[in-house]
Amino acid sequence: MQSTLLVLSTICSLASAAIQWGNCSNAIIPLASPKLQCATLSVPLNWSDTSSTNITIGLTRVEAGDTSKRIGSLIFNPGGPGEPASTVLAGQALGFPLFSTNISDVFDLVGFDPRGVGPFSTPVICDPEVFNTRINYYPNSTSQYNDLVTANKAIWQNCHNLTGDLLYNVDTLSVAKDLEALRIALDDGPLNFLGISYGTVIAQTYARLHPSSFRTIAMDAVVDHNISATAQFFDEAQTYEASLHRFASWCSSTNSTFCPLKGKDVISIFNATVANATRSPLPVPGCVNTDPSITGGCFANITAAELISTAQTLLTFKDPNAPVTLGWPALAGALALAAQGNGTAMAQAFAAANLATSNISSLFAGTVIPCLDDYTGINSFADIQYRLRLGEYVAPLTKGISEKWRQQVRCIGFPIPPTYPQTDMSVNNTGKGDKEMLLATSEWDPNVPWLWAEQARSAIGNATLVLREGDGHTSFYLGGKTTRVIEEYFVSGVAPEQGLVVPS
Ligand SMILES: *[C@@H]1O[C@H](CO)[C@@H](O)[C@H](O)[C@H]1NC(C)=O
Ligand SMILES: *[C@@H]1O[C@H](CO)[C@@H](O)[C@H](O)[C@H]1NC(C)=O
Ligand SMILES: *[C@@H]1O[C@H](CO)[C@@H](O)[C@H](O)[C@H]1NC(C)=O
Ligand SMILES: *[C@@H]1O[C@H](CO)[C@@H](O)[C@H](O)[C@H]1NC(C)=O
Ligand SMILES: *[C@@H]1O[C@H](CO)[C@@H](O)[C@H](O)[C@H]1NC(C)=O
Ligand SMILES: *[C@@H]1O[C@H](CO)[C@@H](O)[C@H](O)[C@H]1NC(C)=O
Ligand SMILES: *[C@@H]1O[C@H](CO)[C@@H](O)[C@H](O)[C@H]1NC(C)=O
Ligand SMILES: *[C@@H]1O[C@H](CO)[C@@H](O)[C@H](O)[C@H]1NC(C)=O
Ligand SMILES: *[C@@H]1O[C@H](CO)[C@@H](O)[C@H](O)[C@H]1NC(C)=O
Ligand SMILES: *[C@@H]1O[C@H](CO)[C@@H](O)[C@H](O)[C@H]1NC(C)=O
Ligand SMILES: *[C@@H]1O[C@H](CO)[C@@H](O)[C@H](O)[C@H]1NC(C)=O
Ligand SMILES: *[C@@H]1O[C@H](CO)[C@@H](O)[C@H](O)[C@H]1NC(C)=O
Repeated sequence: MQSTLLVLSTICSLASAAIQWGNCSNAIIPLASPKLQCATLSVPLNWSDTSSTNITIGLTRVEAGDTSKRIGSLIFNPGGPGEPASTVLAGQALGFPLFSTNISDVFDLVGFDPRGVGPFSTPVICDPEVFNTRINYYPNSTSQYNDLVTANKAIWQNCHNLTGDLLYNVDTLSVAKDLEALRIALDDGPLNFLGISYGTVIAQTYARLHPSSFRTIAMDAVVDHNISATAQFFDEAQTYEASLHRFASWCSSTNSTFCPLKGKDVISIFNATVANATRSPLPVPGCVNTDPSITGGCFANITAAELISTAQTLLTFKDPNAPVTLGWPALAGALALAAQGNGTAMAQAFAAANLATSNISSLFAGTVIPCLDDYTGINSFADIQYRLRLGEYVAPLTKGISEKWRQQVRCIGFPIPPTYPQTDMSVNNTGKGDKEMLLATSEWDPNVPWLWAEQARSAIGNATLVLREGDGHTSFYLGGKTTRVIEEYFVSGVAPEQGLVVPS
């Protein structure tokens, strides 16, 4: 009797594990092309709890264009953390390809929306008005610090009330386990995976858990999960400051037709604008709707820290590539306006990147994940003072106000300690049975320093690093030489020679 039950339950779980691909619902993916397929995968809420309830992971797929040359499935994660893959693959299917035919002909492209990222996966839910509580990213006194902790606690209490314990289970270790569940359910051989930006932490975590289960793993803009919060802060401050100087010389250069500050001392203008905003937040006269929970809404003024933070966001891509990015010209325009005392373009960009407009915004998972993945090391106002002092030392213009800093600030007062904090990320793959990994970094990345890719390379037994001599965060999206190198690796399964430096 017992063994019959066992056999039956094995068959049932195998049957439920097979992925049922079908059309995509318009409610989840508006305007989905018929080429886009959708499915769901059921995984435990808590992988360590055998009695855990299950949650849903949303999957998307675009099948290989040339079935006679098909190699397998290529799963990818665009980073964030908490960015959905479904939007990228929806674009791919509609003819705005991230992946060229070199890849899309021979691989089924498979994306998953990470746990907590709605509407496709079981979402983290918060009240957007509560989540959008204005956070002081530069607390300057014990009472400002206490106000920050109180505000954060209220936000996370609200999200926990609405989400339940999923809020505490969206860490990257759990995501890496979901990835293995997806690989097994696809039943398509060893993993091929592209992790971009924070997706590289999923990639490294997966490789540590399953060093012999992959064929290819490529990482673009590599994050190091084995450094203290202070080092994260310091390194990112340094690379952001360096990128801002690159922007300033591009902007003021006589070559630049896209910078309204051409010929001017852009560094001094940036510095003076920040100094003005430090004295008093810049007005935002063009903000049509000052309720930031409504699409297009923004705060009625912009602080110095918000301004600095937004400039980093606008450095992500140098060259315009509509509709994805307006590139550095957008920062040039927003800065020129702010320097005249009009913070509108900056405040709009800040809102687009940081403020939620729905109760299942992907920003929620994106904000929680760092609280589960990193110790901040901040438990008092003194801890903040030390860190910000260090920021002014390493980055006199941008003062350490960076994406990592924003993440750290939002995690002060988070209800539980991190469940997947910084840890040894070494992977002892040798190439003998275990495969080689490919890393890529840009030399002048405003978010993720080259240093982290180099640290990851030395922690991985067998990995090659491609260095792109250029600006901006990530390389694969650019479609240049780095993209071709990554594509060739996926197709051949063989990484290039060590020491490859490419111009684009
Ligand atoms: C999926 O969409 C195609 C084309 O839009 C349609 O012909 C087909 O009937 C749909 N299949 C299902 C199961 O709804
Ligand atoms: C829960 O998830 C596990 C692992 O993916 C799966 O094997 C099991 O079938 C799921 N249970 C249900 C009830 O869907
Ligand atoms: C997951 O389950 C384990 C085992 O029951 C438990 O120790 C752990 O606290 C749970 N994790 C979370 C985030 O609740
Ligand atoms: C912090 O406070 C000090 C004096 O209390 C002031 O001089 C300084 O400008 C303030 N800094 C910011 C960033 O507000
Ligand atoms: C969360 O729920 C508890 C219990 O229902 C309630 O007392 C509390 O006010 C709620 N907190 C928030 C921030 O919604
Ligand atoms: C400006 O253009 C010249 C000639 O193309 C080039 O050598 C130089 O590096 C460019 N300067 C900048 C700052 O881009
Ligand atoms: C920036 O402005 C501050 C005063 O607000 C000044 O002390 C500092 O030297 C300036 N830095 C640069 C690079 O202009
Ligand atoms: C501020 O800039 C915005 C454009 O971003 C513009 O619509 C608005 O008229 C400007 N306001 C003032 C007072 O200059
Ligand atoms: C800035 O906006 C906030 C609302 O977000 C408001 O409370 C504050 O008074 C404004 N400050 C200035 C200087 O306008
Ligand atoms: C800074 O503020 C002063 C005084 O309001 C103003 O004259 C100056 O133009 C502002 N400069 C910048 C770059 O914002
Ligand atoms: C890799 O090897 C080092 C040194 O032998 C060891 O400390 C580390 O735990 C190993 N890592 C893994 C993931 O096996
Ligand atoms: C790395 O992996 C490749 C491919 O499997 C293998 O040829 C090479 O010997 C390995 N290198 C090292 C240092 O293990």
